[in-house]
Amino acid sequence: MTSSASRLEPRRTADGSFSLFSREFGEGFHSGLGALAEAHSKFVAPAGLDRLGAGATLRVLDVCVGTGCNTAALLEACQARGLELSWWGLELDHEPLRLALGDAGFCSQWQAGTPEQLAKLCSSERMLWGDARSCLRDVLERQRGQLDLVLMDAFSPSRCPQLWTLEFLSGLADLLQPQGRLLTYCSAAAIRNALRQAGLQLASITAPSGLLKQTSDWSGGTAASPSPLDGDPQLRPLSLMEEEHLRTNAAEPYRDPSGCTERAEILRQRQRAQVLAMASGTVEGTGAWRRRWGVGASRHQ
Ligand SMILES: C[S@@+](CC[C@H](N)C(=O)[O-])C[C@H]1O[C@@H](n2cnc3c(N)ncnc32)[C@H](O)[C@@H]1O
Repeated sequence: MTSSASRLEPRRTADGSFSLFSREFGEGFHSGLGALAEAHSKFVAPAGLDRLGAGATLRVLDVCVGTGCNTAALLEACQARGLELSWWGLELDHEPLRLALGDAGFCSQWQAGTPEQLAKLCSSERMLWGDARSCLRDVLERQRGQLDLVLMDAFSPSRCPQLWTLEFLSGLADLLQPQGRLLTYCSAAAIRNALRQAGLQLASITAPSGLLKQTSDWSGGTAASPSPLDGDPQLRPLSLMEEEHLRTNAAEPYRDPSGCTERAEILRQRQRAQVLAMASGTVEGTGAWRRRWGVGASRHQ
C-alpha cells in the first residue's frame, strides 16, 4: 500500500496557507495563489450568506472536504454572522484532513476553536467517507431539495471526471432548495453545460482581479441555482464569450449512467461524443473559439 507521505505532499501556498499536492491525481488541492484566498473568493464570498438573517441555519454540503479548508472558512463566516450551520461532507480519503489538522501552520491560520469544530464535524455521522457518487445517494435520501449551498471542489474534470458527470452534477442540483446555490472554482464548458442541463441557472463568479490575472482565467468559477442569480456583487451573468463556449465541442458533458464508470472510460466516451458532434457540424471546435476570443488554455476550463 502506498503511504500517505508519498501520495500527498504538503505545500504552502502564496498567501501562506496550507495545502497538499496529490501525486495520485497529479494536481494540487488548491491554486498555488492561496488555499485560504480561494476558499474565501470562490466559496464563502459568493455563497451570499447575507441573504440569511442572524440565527438562521445554513444547510450545506461540502463535496470533497479534503483538508477541510472550505468548511473551516465557512464555519468562521457563519460565526461572524450569527448563523447556525447544518453540514454534510463527502470525501474518499481520511489523509488530507489528518495531515491538515496535524499541521501547526494549518491550525494557526484559523481563529481559536475552528480546527476543533472542523474535527468535530468531520467525525460526525454527516461526514460520509467513500466514493462521493455512492455517498451522494444517502444525502439525497435525506436532504433532497433542502440545501442552501453545495461547495463543489473535486479535482479538475480531466483528472477526476467521475465527479463532474451530468449524472453526479444532476444529483447535486437535486439537493438544492429553490434559492440554493452550487459553487465551484470550475468554469469548464462541459461542467456549465451539465449544470444547465440539470435545470440550473448559471452565473460567473467574479474573482478578485489579482487571482484572475495570475491564473489567466476569465472567470473566478461558476455559481448555479434553480433560481436566477441576479443582484449579487460577487456574481455576474455569463458573457457572450462564455455563452459561445457552451456551444463548442468542449461543452460535451462527461457521462456516467451506471454511477460507477472508470475514469478512463468516461474520458473515452466523451471524446467519442465530441468527435460525433464535430462531424455533425452542430458545434464549433474549441480551438476556433479560443482564437476568435484570444483565450489561452486553462485546467479549469
Ligand atoms: C481538490 S481536493 C479538495 C480540496 C478541499 N476542498 C480542501 O479545501 O482541501 C479533491 C479531493 O477529492 C477527493 N476525492 C477524489 N476522488 C473522490 C471520490 N471519488 N469521492 C470522494 N472524494 C474524492 C480527494 O481525496 C481530495 O481530497
